[in-house]
Amino acid sequence: MDRNISLELVRVTEAAAMAAARLMGRGDKNKADGAAVRAMRIALGSISMDGTVVIGEGEKDEAPMLYIGEKIGNGEPPKVDIAVDPIDGTRLLSLGLPNAIAVVALAEAGSLYTSPGIFYMNKIAVGPSAKGAIDLDKPVEWNLKSIAEAKRLPLEELTVVVLDRPRHEQLMREIREAGARIKLITDGDIAGALMTVLEDTGVDVLMGIGGSPEAVVTACALKCIGGEMQCRPYPRHEEDRRKALSMGADLNKLYTIDDLVASDQVFVSITGITNGELVDGVKYSERHIETHSLVMRSKSGTVRDIRARHSLDKLMAYSEVEYLAPSQK
Ligand code: FBP
Repeated sequence: MDRNISLELVRVTEAAAMAAARLMGRGDKNKADGAAVRAMRIALGSISMDGTVVIGEGEKDEAPMLYIGEKIGNGEPPKVDIAVDPIDGTRLLSLGLPNAIAVVALAEAGSLYTSPGIFYMNKIAVGPSAKGAIDLDKPVEWNLKSIAEAKRLPLEELTVVVLDRPRHEQLMREIREAGARIKLITDGDIAGALMTVLEDTGVDVLMGIGGSPEAVVTACALKCIGGEMQCRPYPRHEEDRRKALSMGADLNKLYTIDDLVASDQVFVSITGITNGELVDGVKYSERHIETHSLVMRSKSGTVRDIRARHSLDKLMAYSEVEYLAPSQK
């Protein structure tokens, strides 16, 4: 794991973002996801590694590519777990809304939490300046006061990012009663959580229930950038609960970043598909595509902000991925 794979990973998320961005606003989530998955699969396959997808597009029979258990790479060391989210925010992309991103994380084999039977988690996440100030077991108001104190902010200036879902009505009421502000997002709680890390987004904390695969990917990024997250499995109904328990899940356990990613060898790449607070979206010009990515490595803590200009003519001379618009072919 001495090689800094994050610099190779950036090609993977760039490929997914470039392939998917053409389909922005077309109202077809599945088509966009398919394009991102294909591009990501091809780019991942070119990395020298012994990888296994542990967080992916689903079980083998429902996902032709990047399915859980799929082996990727040429089988040479390092042996790694791969977590992919070719588009976090498929709906955001299909509607042309902000913050759709392509994400991939790699970590030492066996270190990523694979959430047996757990689809959702209740999450709280903050950036480094509020590390140590959160406790998912304490009331919302306690957490907000504690974060405000750690960040030396008046409570009224604190901004909480929350997924806009009916299940969050009570949470939103408690945030408002405590006196803090809310930024609702329609999707994409990986970007939502990472906004808490970047000072200029104005977001201080993510709260609420979102996907458990997204929790693991977020944990990978926070392990690199700094910050804190706590999560607890959230069964939506009795059937979820029964399924999770039958698969051996511990529904009461409070998961920290180290529980979700039990390694200090973690690499993450994120490329913007649509514009957002974290990264800019894909931009097209006559013969070029521009991408904006963040790539990070936990060992060094280095976060690279990478803007790339891809030449369509050169790319299409050898790439298996289709980056051209239909009228450019
Ligand atoms: P997809 O892009 O994979 O559809 O996920 C988007 C997302 O908003 C995640 O960021 C979030 O964790 C999850 O969906 C929330 O699930 P739900 O939409 O079922 O509330």
